[in-house]
Amino acid sequence: MKNTAIILASGTGERSGLSVPKQFFEIDGKTLLEIVVSTFDEHNGIDEIIIVTNENFIERTKTLLKKFSKVKKIIIGGKTRQESSFKGVMAIDEECNVLIHDAARVFVTEKIIDECIAGLENHNAVCTVVNSTDTVIEVDKTGKIINIPQRETLRCAQTPQCFKLSLIKKAHNLAMERGLVVTDDCGLVSDRNLADIYTVLGDNDNKKITYGEDFELAKMIYKKRLDLKKRS
Ligand code: CTP
Ligand code: MG
Repeated sequence: MKNTAIILASGTGERSGLSVPKQFFEIDGKTLLEIVVSTFDEHNGIDEIIIVTNENFIERTKTLLKKFSKVKKIIIGGKTRQESSFKGVMAIDEECNVLIHDAARVFVTEKIIDECIAGLENHNAVCTVVNSTDTVIEVDKTGKIINIPQRETLRCAQTPQCFKLSLIKKAHNLAMERGLVVTDDCGLVSDRNLADIYTVLGDNDNKKITYGEDFELAKMIYKKRLDLKKRS
């Protein structure tokens, strides 16, 4: 089955403190958007890429991404990440595997994409995760702790989050009908228990670039990757 990546790049990056959306921040003359798209474009298992972008930056996005042959559609996103994901998913007609990825997770690896594609051979839903290094606590509205789950059972969700197209379309439509608001795509599927969601191991470098200080980290990860490439 075809593997289609949907890259969500329609956010405005409020928390980054930059004057442009964070996906247009440049390292070494390349935008973060080009860096993340190139990883999918160069991956043998990926057949097509759909970019969801902000309407104010559509021309800039088109110009930057012209060189990537697998980018088949560049569409305009919505007000929230969930809406942007909805639009990306609904832009595909033919049944396929979809890998939904945050453009802000700039340093997704080839290995993570390998694992996601392999996971979809046996499962209808796959989520990229890393172990939680901190203990996570649940609090009530007053801030009082109500639960401290065993850390060994906790994972932090990353992206790609991957699904059979028909499953994620159904999940999005049900969420829309019920006004369900979630922060990630697996939340849409798990809310109605529409499928078992399996996990694959992500990478700490696949962190979401969010705040001003994350851009220094992004430069370090970029340099580390370049050095590794040169040595191999
Ligand atoms: N995103 C999107 N459409 C939106 C909001 C977010 O496609 N309406 C995308 C972002 O571009 C990003 C990913 O979803 O790649 C994760 O969102 P986040 O890290 O929150 O990015 P922003 O919303 O851009 O940042 P902020 O919340 O700081 O404004
Ligand atoms: Mg956001």
